[in-house]
Amino acid sequence: MSGEAGRLVIETVGLKKTYLGKMPTPVLFGIDLRVAAGEFVSIIGQSGSGKSTLLNILGALDVPTEGLVKIDGVDISTLTEDGLAVLRSQVVGFVFQAHFLLDELTCLENAVLPISIRNGSPTLEESAWITSLLVRVGLGGKLHKYPDTMSGGENQRCAIVRALANRPRIVLADEPTGDLDSHTGEEVFRLMRQMSSEIGISFVMVTHDERLARAADRILLIEDGLMRALTKEEKAVGTSPS
Ligand SMILES: Nc1ncnc2c1ncn2[C@@H]1O[C@H](COP(=O)(O)OP(=O)(O)OP(=O)(O)O)[C@@H](O)[C@H]1O
Ligand SMILES: [Mg+2]
Repeated sequence: MSGEAGRLVIETVGLKKTYLGKMPTPVLFGIDLRVAAGEFVSIIGQSGSGKSTLLNILGALDVPTEGLVKIDGVDISTLTEDGLAVLRSQVVGFVFQAHFLLDELTCLENAVLPISIRNGSPTLEESAWITSLLVRVGLGGKLHKYPDTMSGGENQRCAIVRALANRPRIVLADEPTGDLDSHTGEEVFRLMRQMSSEIGISFVMVTHDERLARAADRILLIEDGLMRALTKEEKAVGTSPS
């Protein structure tokens, strides 16, 4: 962890979410989550339990029905549209269940895109850093390939590097290894853990892979709309939430 270990980068208090519509769907009933700088947390829970809902709210892609959400010390309900845009592009990096790379850009161009959007074009140093990350996830030979000529797993690895491009404080990763074979999944996971400690990035990773979940600093379970840490017994015997 970095020198600011212990500083909270995510704090939610009583976070509730009900999707409104013809049939209101209550999903989250009061989530209290605290994540410190540089911490690596995994979230597990059955399909439909609200994991993606929670990540979307933490990344200001959706709003809670009730409760406080502080990201990097700021109550995000007080942010203007400009403030929210900065939060989404520079404070938080996303890895979604689907990778969302742009087909008309190469792997390298996709990965540096967040820097390009922020600064015009990346410096040589920035390009070299992104290239080194792509090499570390096994994409050294694919830098100039287009997404539709790469496999699903290669696209997802590229998307993970893209999420790191602006050296965000927090990466929200929704099943980042879901499309990968177990060997590649482990390599990608290792890269994320290294980034977490090298740059002090906090990770909140939703995963169905129990082994990876266990390799995080903490495992949290969403169940019946609430979040809790696994009990010692559950950790010992292993729970298969889905
Ligand atoms: N936009 C929406 N409008 C209404 N209901 C929604 C919406 N998005 C999600 N839901 C519902 O909220 C619940 C939680 O969905 P969510 O996507 O957060 O689950 P999840 O834990 O990520 O599941 P999975 O493991 O399958 O990805 C589900 O019952 C889902 O149907
Ligand atoms: Mg989901």
